Amino acid sequence: MENQYYYYLTIFFVLIFYKYFFNPRRNNLPPSPLAFPIIGHLYLLKNKPLLTLTSLSAKYGPVLYLRYGSMPVLIVSSPSTVEECFTKNDIIFANRSRTMAGDQLTFNYTAYFWAPYGQLWRSLRRLTVMELLSSNSLQKTSNIRDEEVVNFTRSLFKFCNGRSRNVDLTNWICTFSFNLVNKIVAGTHLVSEEDAGMEKGIAMIERLKGIFFVDIPVLNMCDFLPFLRWIGYKGMEKKMSLVHNQRNEFLDNLLEEFRQEKVNVGNRVKQNTLIETLLSLQESEPEFYTEDVIKSIMLVIFVTGTDTTSTTIQWAMRLVLAHPEALHKLRAEIDIQVGNTRLLNESDLTKLPYLHSVINETLRLYPTVPLLLPHYSTEDCTVGGYHVPKHTILLVNAWAIQRDPEVWKDPNEFKPERFEAIEGGKEGVNYKFIPFGMGRRSCPGAGMATRAISLALGSLIQCFDWQSVGKENLALSYNSRIKIQKNKSLEAICSPRSNFVQLLSQL
Ligand SMILES: *[C@@H]1O[C@H](CO)[C@@H](O)[C@H](O)[C@H]1NC(C)=O
Ligand SMILES: *[C@@H]1O[C@H](CO)[C@@H](O)[C@H](O)[C@H]1NC(C)=O
Ligand SMILES: *[C@@H]1O[C@H](CO)[C@@H](O)[C@H](O)[C@H]1NC(C)=O
Ligand SMILES: *[C@@H]1O[C@H](CO)[C@@H](O)[C@H](O)[C@H]1NC(C)=O
Ligand SMILES: *[C@@H]1O[C@H](CO)[C@@H](O)[C@H](O)[C@H]1NC(C)=O
Ligand SMILES: *[C@@H]1O[C@H](CO)[C@@H](O)[C@H](O)[C@H]1NC(C)=O
Repeated sequence: MENQYYYYLTIFFVLIFYKYFFNPRRNNLPPSPLAFPIIGHLYLLKNKPLLTLTSLSAKYGPVLYLRYGSMPVLIVSSPSTVEECFTKNDIIFANRSRTMAGDQLTFNYTAYFWAPYGQLWRSLRRLTVMELLSSNSLQKTSNIRDEEVVNFTRSLFKFCNGRSRNVDLTNWICTFSFNLVNKIVAGTHLVSEEDAGMEKGIAMIERLKGIFFVDIPVLNMCDFLPFLRWIGYKGMEKKMSLVHNQRNEFLDNLLEEFRQEKVNVGNRVKQNTLIETLLSLQESEPEFYTEDVIKSIMLVIFVTGTDTTSTTIQWAMRLVLAHPEALHKLRAEIDIQVGNTRLLNESDLTKLPYLHSVINETLRLYPTVPLLLPHYSTEDCTVGGYHVPKHTILLVNAWAIQRDPEVWKDPNEFKPERFEAIEGGKEGVNYKFIPFGMGRRSCPGAGMATRAISLALGSLIQCFDWQSVGKENLALSYNSRIKIQKNKSLEAICSPRSNFVQLLSQL
């Protein structure tokens, strides 16, 4: 009995040894460090996975092949390999894998950004691109954004009460983002103008951040080592299901309120809201627009619309506070193009190239999703001359590409001017600037997000003087700080510009 046991154990290890060290197919695979049985390369990724992946790519090249437990993962980190993945192989990499976060948080994979590549995804894409994000509907929502900026600027002005005041910019910016998204979705505000910046408003925003900005990785240990899921590793699954329930309840409430109001006031309320569009689609196509599909569409708008805009506006403010020359240049541009007799609005944006450059430069240094969302291959293919088997996860290290000294001059410095030079040249930023992803699975909301970011940042610079608090803001250490610490607010001293007081008090 005992002998037999050792016999099988030996066979087992010989097979594993063969599989990982002498497998002839391995020769075609992209470069890869030494892997251990069962855990694969997970031992490398214990701390700071993004920095570890970046340094592994620097060592092994722009096509890196790792095994996260049972899951093969391809990591690309150069413009040419990105191009190869999202042109020649775009369809092959267009799928998403099943993961624990997907199971728990995406309304059974009906959420647009996580839907498997296929009919459902195509229908959702048609809806988002045609109904919500076409230039026609962007035009329709431009009034909403302009009005939101007016209300936001006015409440900040009232809060300052005619003098310099220390403000928690993180909270203000989140208030703007949540109010804007809720306005587009449901036609109402989450934080009223009187509450903004006050105890009640701050508490409200903290609660919303707890629901929507949760620190849940899209891939986690349980996806790589499935047995961890059975034993309930770190309560991950429980935590996710709790978050999902909170979001579900929030969305149910919005829908319920809307339906109630429709009964009370009749058909003419709150037109031009996303809920109204979705509910009328539900009436005509009830089989497709189930309650889950409707909620998943609202969820996507909330999650992507609030996080990207608020983090990017915050990083941009941090960066211009640390670079007064950029702030002055930006303000001079706005003063010349818009003046001080009115607030900047969406039709001004085409005349403000430096504002766009500042935002692009911010997104280059601090992309909101540094590894983009994981793609998943449906067939074998080749990348960089290497063989990539089907059912491989693809991670695109946008962060590394956007800070690669081979691709960008002085990559760690904040220099918005670099985008002005690119704008004129014919080379463009293709495949080296990819904050919103590439190919058919890229983020269709990029245009909408950029507009909201430009308006909010532009009006903060146009109407107020800013001073940083303490030294922290001035000494940004570019390489180490990849994510804003969730509990660390951006504070600054805000005072209305003297030649804007008249305009602001009339808003
Ligand atoms: C996409 O991935 C899902 C699971 O992640 C799988 O069920 C589906 O078959 C895949 N689609 C294609 C076209 O391979
Ligand atoms: C999720 O979708 C699959 C098929 O797409 C279906 O079989 C399953 O019942 C659904 N689960 C839930 C909880 O709706
Ligand atoms: C924004 O301010 C205007 C008045 O300028 C007001 O009519 C409107 O209701 C406010 N919007 C929201 C959503 O509070
Ligand atoms: C933006 O401001 C300009 C100049 O005042 C004005 O002509 C234009 O109508 C405004 N756009 C919107 C959408 O309000
Ligand atoms: C900003 O980046 C986008 C690509 O995402 C590009 O289309 C646009 O021209 C850039 N803007 C400027 C001012 O460089
Ligand atoms: C923020 O959180 C980190 C750990 O997550 C902790 O070390 C730090 O003390 C916290 N800072 C504040 C201001 O609460």
